[in-house]
Amino acid sequence: MAGMICGTGSYIPSYTMDNNDIAKLVDTSDEWIRERTGVARRHIVRQETTVSMASEAGKRALECAGITAEEIDLILVATISSNVILPCTACEVQKELGAVHATCFDIGGAACTGFVLAYNTAAAYLSGGIYRTALVIGSESLSNLTNWEDRGTCILFGDGAGAAVVRADEKNCYFPVTHSEGAKGMALTCKSRCRNGEGIPEEDYFIQMDGQAVFKFAVKRVPEVIREVLEKNKLSREDIGLYILHQANRRIVEAVAKRLEEPIEKFPMNLEEYGNTLSASIPILLDELNREGRLKPGHRLVLVGFGAGLTWGAAVTEWR
Ligand code: COA
Repeated sequence: MAGMICGTGSYIPSYTMDNNDIAKLVDTSDEWIRERTGVARRHIVRQETTVSMASEAGKRALECAGITAEEIDLILVATISSNVILPCTACEVQKELGAVHATCFDIGGAACTGFVLAYNTAAAYLSGGIYRTALVIGSESLSNLTNWEDRGTCILFGDGAGAAVVRADEKNCYFPVTHSEGAKGMALTCKSRCRNGEGIPEEDYFIQMDGQAVFKFAVKRVPEVIREVLEKNKLSREDIGLYILHQANRRIVEAVAKRLEEPIEKFPMNLEEYGNTLSASIPILLDELNREGRLKPGHRLVLVGFGAGLTWGAAVTEWR
C-alpha cells in the first residue's frame, strides 16, 4: 500500500494530573506508578472534546503539510471516546475545518490499534486511486470513560489528539500486517454506553482491564507482528530507523526492544508526559518527533498498535 505522511499535528489539553494527584484519589504512589508504567503525568480535558481536539490536531497537520482543507478527500478518525454517537467525529472535523470535498467516517472500537488501522485504511484507498489526500486522526477523551476509583486503570490513561496528512505515493509502498483475537476480548472492556439501562453495574460504564493479561499479550504479540511486517516487506532490522509503538507502558516498550534485540534508542517514548492516550498516542509521538526534527527523509518507520479486541497491527512507512 502506498501512503506517504506529509504533515503531522497534535493537540494536548493544558490541564494536567500528576501521579500525586492520582494518589489523592486511589491507594497508589508516584513511585509505584513511575516504576510499573513509566507515567509521571497525564493531560486531561476540561473544556475540550474529542471533536475539538481532533479538529485542532487536524488543522495543525494541514498547516504542517502546507495544504488547504479543500484538498482533503478523506477524513478518518480513530476514537472510542467521542462525546456523541452521531454525527461521527470525522464529519464534525470536516465541518470545523471546512474540508467540503472529504468523505468522512470513524474507525471505532479498535482503541489502541485504531490509528494503525485508520492509516492502513487510508493507504488502501490511496493505493487504489480512489482518493489522493487523507487526513488520519486519533483523538481520545478517555478521562470520561475512566473509573477514578480503580487504581488498576486510572493511573494509565490520558487525553489528547494527533493527526497525519497522508498522500498517495507509489514509491512508498509497503504491506501492513494486522491481527485480531476476539476470544480474548474480555481482557479490556468498556461494556455499556447507555446510562439509562436498569441493572447495569456502575463499573460497566468505564474501562475495565485485566492488566497482567494485556501486558502478556503485548510483550508476545508486538515483537511477533514487527518480525512479520519486516519479513512481509523483505526488510531487515537495519532498514528501520524508528519503531513508533503505541505508548501503553514503558515496561512493554522495553520488553519489545529486548525481544527484538534492538537498541532502546530506536523506540522513542513520550508516555511519561501523556500516559496512554489510546488511538492518539502514535500520531502525538509522530508529531513530536517531526517537530523536533528527528524524522529524516527516507527514514523508515514501523508504526505498531495493540490493544482492545484484542487487536494488533504494524505498518511501515518512509518519511517524506
Ligand atoms: N498502585 C499501587 N499498587 C497497585 C496498583 C497501583 N496503582 N495497582 C495494582 N497494585 C498492586 C496490586 O494490588 C498487587 O498487590 P499484591 O501483590 O499485594 O496483590 C501488586 O500491585 C501487583 O499488581 P499487578 O496487577 O500484578 O501489577 P502489574 O505489575 O501487572 O502492573 C499494570 C499493573 C496495570 C500497570 C500492568 O499490568 C500493565 O501496565 N498492564 C498493561 C496495561 C496496558 O498497557 N493497557 C493498555 C493496553 S493498550
